[in-house]
Amino acid sequence: MAALSTPEVSTGELVLSLRGIDKNFGAVQALTGIDLDIYSGEVVALVGDNGAGKSTLVKILAGVHPQDGGTITSDDKRVSINNPADSNNLGIATVYQDLALCDNLDVVANLFLGHELGRGTINEVEMEKRSWSLLRQLSARIPSVRIPVASLSGGQRQTVAIARSLIGEPRIVILDEPTAALGVAQTAEVLNLIERLRERGLGVVLISHNMADVQAVADRIVVLRLGRNNGEFKVADVTYEDIIAAITGASDNAVTRRAQARVDAAGAPAATAGSRPDDTALPEEDRP
Ligand SMILES: Nc1ncnc2c1ncn2[C@@H]1O[C@H](COP(=O)(O)OP(=O)(O)O)[C@@H](O)[C@H]1O
Ligand SMILES: [Mg+2]
Repeated sequence: MAALSTPEVSTGELVLSLRGIDKNFGAVQALTGIDLDIYSGEVVALVGDNGAGKSTLVKILAGVHPQDGGTITSDDKRVSINNPADSNNLGIATVYQDLALCDNLDVVANLFLGHELGRGTINEVEMEKRSWSLLRQLSARIPSVRIPVASLSGGQRQTVAIARSLIGEPRIVILDEPTAALGVAQTAEVLNLIERLRERGLGVVLISHNMADVQAVADRIVVLRLGRNNGEFKVADVTYEDIIAAITGASDNAVTRRAQARVDAAGAPAATAGSRPDDTALPEEDRP
């Protein structure tokens, strides 16, 4: 089990590659020609406005919806994800926003739900040991593994849900808005946890509306807009204004106007202000 073994950390390897993914729901074209690469030991943030297609893309990766077009490649082999089992077999774990924890069960029971150890009899002692080990590896602050998850804070519940996703030894973990319901301190804890996942060599796909979180923890940002790719950035190279411009598809919005005003006030050349992301985004035809 990955939770106990020292993970073989590989980073920067292309684990999964999506090309030209299309998906429609009847007349609604939810995704058109989406490209996405997921690398080991890297956090890629998937951002976009409501309706941009983030959840639909996640559901394709999770085997909830089959794609209508395009290809998925895993370790240079073409694969198909027709159901959640296919997704698991490819090493993809998805943590949905609702977490799907059983509130009345304790942390151990939630971690091992469906993966209980022991033949016939559940080996409670072993599961408890492994729970502590896993949580320790994640530097998670959980007061006890024998309390119902209902009594945990939002951040701790998110931690339990993420820890549970690791039980199946995934290579990719997809997190859908993991900090959306959290306060500042709990958000910091979950962002720490995401860094632990990266250190373990996992490929992390982070869906988030919070650009501060994205800029704090992601290595790369993929922007979707109206079901299409609309920019890809290295976090180190991009400003908040660039990301917002790619998300909204317009350089003329409150955020970029404010940035422009700041630059004007500082007397800097206007050409660099509130710029469209073109200088840092990879143009569509140059994307790998
Ligand atoms: N099950 C569905 N049936 C019909 N339309 C859907 C369904 N799921 C998503 N859509 C549509 O697909 C588009 C993308 O939605 P979604 O993937 O949920 O975006 P996001 O997660 O970025 O907000 C939207 O226009 C949405 O209304
Ligand atoms: Mg969504």
